[in-house]
Amino acid sequence: MNPYRPGGAPELDARAVVEDPALRPRNLDEYVGQARVVENLRVYVRAARARGEAMDHVLLSGPPGLGKTSLAHIIAEELGVDIRPTSGPVIERGGDLAAMLLNLQPREVLFIDEIHRLNRAVEEVLYGALEDFRVDVMYGQGPGAQSVSMGLNRFTLIGATTRAGLLTRPLRDRFHIQFNMEFYSPAELAEILRRSAGRLGLPITDEAARELARRSRGTPRVANRLLRRARDFAEVEGTGEVDLPIVRLTLDRLGIDEEGLDGMDRRVLATIARKFDGGPVGIDNLATAIGEERDVIEDVFEPFLIQRGFLKRTRQGRVLTQRGLRHIGIDPSPDQETLF
Ligand SMILES: Nc1ncnc2c1ncn2[C@@H]1O[C@H](COP(=O)(O)OP(=O)(O)O)[C@@H](O)[C@H]1O
Ligand SMILES: [Mg+2]
Repeated sequence: MNPYRPGGAPELDARAVVEDPALRPRNLDEYVGQARVVENLRVYVRAARARGEAMDHVLLSGPPGLGKTSLAHIIAEELGVDIRPTSGPVIERGGDLAAMLLNLQPREVLFIDEIHRLNRAVEEVLYGALEDFRVDVMYGQGPGAQSVSMGLNRFTLIGATTRAGLLTRPLRDRFHIQFNMEFYSPAELAEILRRSAGRLGLPITDEAARELARRSRGTPRVANRLLRRARDFAEVEGTGEVDLPIVRLTLDRLGIDEEGLDGMDRRVLATIARKFDGGPVGIDNLATAIGEERDVIEDVFEPFLIQRGFLKRTRQGRVLTQRGLRHIGIDPSPDQETLF
């Protein structure tokens, strides 16, 4: 099971699922973790409100499920303005974006998810809007067409991306506030789990919350998904309370191991070990061998495997670490004797 694998069954595809609104944090106080991001945002929000101005444009980057969309909604909430959500692949033509921009009220938030997937023509429209708060609108067609420059209300763009590196330089430079979201600590995830359980009216023991947190890939979305599955097992095979044995049973049945890796994570490690002698292997070869899209491997699996020290990215390609080899049950050869 991978809770956010785009190629997976629809119910496992986070992009196709409307996230459970009951579990979503609604303001900065409810937003657990990402302390540096939250502290700075409080300042920027207060300053913008005190001046009565639109806040600077914000870019949120990081792996799926770490709270980017939630944070975008919270920023609008804290600014006391409406949010207009859209996403990169949805905006097909420059004119579509221009229409959205012209409809924005003063200080409102335009949220563009997957902003690295905007096409060139749309991106051009966005540059002008971000810098000068103007757009060119075309009237008529063919040789008689005319372009008129129209002023926009001052607004805040919030862009979210799994990979800031894919944004063109000029676009990235127009975001004066940039945050890179990090994986959550087990303590933070346990806190999120306790709050979620509270909202679901679900009793959970402390040790159960800690165990779930430890094996949730540092990701709130995964933690909440696992909590829901644990609730099912608790109701059907237990007393209704989520305790340690129920958590262990749940994770076991979902194929999630001691380190929180799922079947797909292990497949990535095993493929590099067995088909490519531990690497280095280029991302395209790896994607073909696994039968998964390159983007999914880069966005979803790699960041966590790298962060936990199972995998390294080198100039030559991906390489398993000793820890990675050991995890999938291959004993690394003993260190070579050094002569000096
Ligand atoms: N900091 C947080 N505190 C509490 N819950 C969170 C936090 N970040 C994410 N979540 C939970 O995880 C889910 C996924 O977050 P989301 O904002 O959709 O992530 P992203 O947009 O980065 O993929 C949310 O619905 C929410 O329930
Ligand atoms: Mg999102």
